Amino acid sequence: MGSGAASFAASAPATLRECAAQKNLLVGTAGSSKQLTDPNVADLISKQANILVAENAMKWQHIHPSQDRFDFTGGDSLLRFASEHRQAVRGHNLCWHNQLPVWFQERATSSNAADLLRSHIAAVAGRYAGRIQSWDVVNEAVRVEDGRPDGLRNSIWLRLLGPQYLEIAFRAAFEADPHALLTYNDYDLEQDSPLHARKRRSVLQLLTSLRERDIPIHALGLQSHLKAGATIPDWSNLLRFLEQVEKLKLQIFITELDVDDSKLPAPAAQRDRVVGALYEDYLKHVLKRDSVKAILTWGISDAGTWLNSFNPRKDSLPQRPLPFDGELQPKPAFFAMRSAILQCRSRHADQLKAVSTFLRRS
Ligand code: XIL
Repeated sequence: MGSGAASFAASAPATLRECAAQKNLLVGTAGSSKQLTDPNVADLISKQANILVAENAMKWQHIHPSQDRFDFTGGDSLLRFASEHRQAVRGHNLCWHNQLPVWFQERATSSNAADLLRSHIAAVAGRYAGRIQSWDVVNEAVRVEDGRPDGLRNSIWLRLLGPQYLEIAFRAAFEADPHALLTYNDYDLEQDSPLHARKRRSVLQLLTSLRERDIPIHALGLQSHLKAGATIPDWSNLLRFLEQVEKLKLQIFITELDVDDSKLPAPAAQRDRVVGALYEDYLKHVLKRDSVKAILTWGISDAGTWLNSFNPRKDSLPQRPLPFDGELQPKPAFFAMRSAILQCRSRHADQLKAVSTFLRRS
C-alpha cells in the first residue's frame, strides 16, 4: 500500500481534498441529508471532499413526488452544505428507469412522456442552473442482456419513446443549464469480463451516435461499483475503451466508486486489505488517463452503504466497501485513494478554476 496509518498521522497534506487540490482533481462522495446533518460525518465530508452528489435527493421519486409538486428540500440542503464548504456539486440524475414516482408509472404514455421528461428537466436542472458542475442526464440506458442490437435497455423510457428519449433528455438539460457538463452514467463498464466488454462496446456505440448527431454531451460517468474477488482484474481493455471515449472529446468521471466485498471471507482486516488493493490498482490505472477528472465514492463511510440492502453478505456481516469505517476511521481504501491521487499527473488548472467560477455563482 506504500502509506500506512502512521504516515497518515505524520504527513501533510493528509486529506483527500488537499491531495486532490494539488492535482486539480475533483474528489468527493455521495451524501444524504441524514449524513450531512450528523456533525461528525459532516465534518469528515467537509474535510475530505471538494465535490458532492446527492445519493437519492435529486432522483425523480424524491424531487418530483406528485405530478404537480416538486420537493427541493433535499437538493437545496445539499447545495447549501456544498456552498458553505466551497464544494462543487454533481446532479444525479435526470432520466433513469429506477426510482420513478408511482404517479409517473401510472400516468406516463407514449404521447405525454416526452413532455413530462422535458418539463421535469426544465424544472430540476433549471432550479440549480449555474450551480452544478455536472449532471448525470441519463443513467443506465444500456443493458446488453436485453438483447437489442443497439444494446439499449428495455426501460420504461425506451418503451414509451424509443431511443430518441436520450436526445430529448440531453437537449432539455442543455437548455436548462448550459453551464453543467452533461454526463452519460453507467455501471459494469470497468472489469475484465465478457459482459463488461460487451457493455463497453454498446456504450461506445451510443456515445458515438450522440456525438455524431451533435447532441450536447460532455462526459462519461463510470459508476465503478467494483467487486472484490480472488484476483485483481486486468484493466487493459478498460484503458483502451477510455482512449476511444476520449477520441469523442468526452471527459471521464468516476462517479459511484465502492467495492462489494460479499465474495470475501469474514475477517474485517482481510477484507479491508483486499478492498484497499482493488481501490489502489483501479485508481492508479484510470488516473493515467488525463481525461479522468473526478473521483466520487458512493458514500464516505461503511455505515449506511447501499450494498447491505442491494447485495447483502451471506454471513450477514455488514459490507466494508468505502474509504472510512463505521467509526469514521480511515481504512486501506482511504490510503489507496490518497496514494493514487498523489501519484497521478496534475490535471489542467482550468478544471478547478471552472469550479470556483460556479461556486461564486452559488
Ligand atoms: C442507490 C442508493 O444508494 C440507494 O439508497 C437507493 O435505495 C437505490 O439507489 N446506481 C446509481 C445510484 O446510479 O443512483 C444507485 O443508488 C446505486 C446504483
